[in-house]
Amino acid sequence: MKVQFTETVLRDANQSLIATRLPYSEFDGILETMDKAGYYSLECWGGATFDSCLRYLDEDPWERLRKIRAKCPNTKLQMLLRGQNLLGYHHYPDDVVRMFVKKSIENGIDIIRIFDALNDVRNIEVAVDETLKNGAIASGAICYTQSPIHNLESYIKLAKQMEELGCQTICIKDMAGILGPNEAYDMVKALKENVKTPIILHTHCTTGLGMLTLQKAVEAGCDVIDTAISSFSGGTSQAPTETMAYALKQEGYDVDLDLSVLKEINDFFKPIKDEYLKKGTLNPLVLSTDTNALNYQIPGGMLSNLVAQLTAQNKMDKFNDVLLETPKVRKDLGYPPLVTPMSQMVGVQATVNVLVGERYKNISKEVKAYIKGEYGRAPGEIDKDLMKKVLGDEEPIKGRFADTLEPGFEKAKKEIGEKAKSDEDVLSYIAFPTQAEAFFDKREEKAKNTFKYSIKRID
Ligand code: CO
Repeated sequence: MKVQFTETVLRDANQSLIATRLPYSEFDGILETMDKAGYYSLECWGGATFDSCLRYLDEDPWERLRKIRAKCPNTKLQMLLRGQNLLGYHHYPDDVVRMFVKKSIENGIDIIRIFDALNDVRNIEVAVDETLKNGAIASGAICYTQSPIHNLESYIKLAKQMEELGCQTICIKDMAGILGPNEAYDMVKALKENVKTPIILHTHCTTGLGMLTLQKAVEAGCDVIDTAISSFSGGTSQAPTETMAYALKQEGYDVDLDLSVLKEINDFFKPIKDEYLKKGTLNPLVLSTDTNALNYQIPGGMLSNLVAQLTAQNKMDKFNDVLLETPKVRKDLGYPPLVTPMSQMVGVQATVNVLVGERYKNISKEVKAYIKGEYGRAPGEIDKDLMKKVLGDEEPIKGRFADTLEPGFEKAKKEIGEKAKSDEDVLSYIAFPTQAEAFFDKREEKAKNTFKYSIKRID
């Protein structure tokens, strides 16, 4: 039996531990070595990396991708895409989604892992279709959550729908690290029995279950696991690559990874990690194990948001009430998976319900949009009274929300004008308008300075 590995240090580990602050220049020197490790894929783009490049790192995300591609010609490059939301939280029109997918592949992406926060497959179908049209691998990701309406049957149904769309692999995406070893075993086994595609497991070590869960998943036939090189593993990140490779080899699995190359990679990243610890970008707390998510069935990140909100308002005495209200709000909303942006929406609404002292007296704009159907189909039934309160006599959107949107690419291209030097620039602008425009201005300024400088030198 063979097990393959996706290395996450450049994307999820970077995002989970140091808020995606790793600039290209810091890992440029190890890419050629990473290319020789024997990974199934390198998760290196999408998620928060794109935003972070423009907002904090003063980097062109597209150029970053092209540079990684040039240094890693032999390894599949992978990105994470939020379906119709691309890298953000609202829906984009289909022409923008198609152009984004096409350009991602053109610039070097081989595998696009596509998910929707509500597991509404209508929100991933356009991205999957375009991925396939451009000859890349579409991986459908199931957001794993626990609720009375989420069970093996519902996940199998979802996986089958993804397979029908043409997804070549199916990934179980456990963003909160709450998937237990036996649940993983049963889920992988059930998926293997019901779909033909390879199965991938993505989990986090947040609650300490990570390594146990991956091991049991592999025993159930999981084909690929997501891990992070050890210096960037553990806590809110993934399980350590070297440890999993070592243990699974010992169990008799066929592992393609070269342990001596992995050591070289880890030796490279270790001082970088130490530097981030020293600077404070890496908070040791995120490296520790936090089992609260298991007690409350609320992801760790969401719990810390709740605490922050209540502390800011000097209302920590209401913490228990909010903890009790949260699952009720989630139930009223039809049990959405607690992943961004639903985790924030549910958390804020629960807090408001408690602090105002009356449930749904104030309803956030986002929750209203969700109830209208602007995010997609709720997994379960939305509470009838709440629905009536928000919609009145209006009907919720029945079809795909993106079908109500006007095409957006050409309009944005006109809007940003000459500041955009390529279609990629236009896409950066569509994804993060303010950050992209500021980045273009700075780039222009830099180019001017370089030009002046070169003239001086000629003189
Ligand atoms: Co993740």
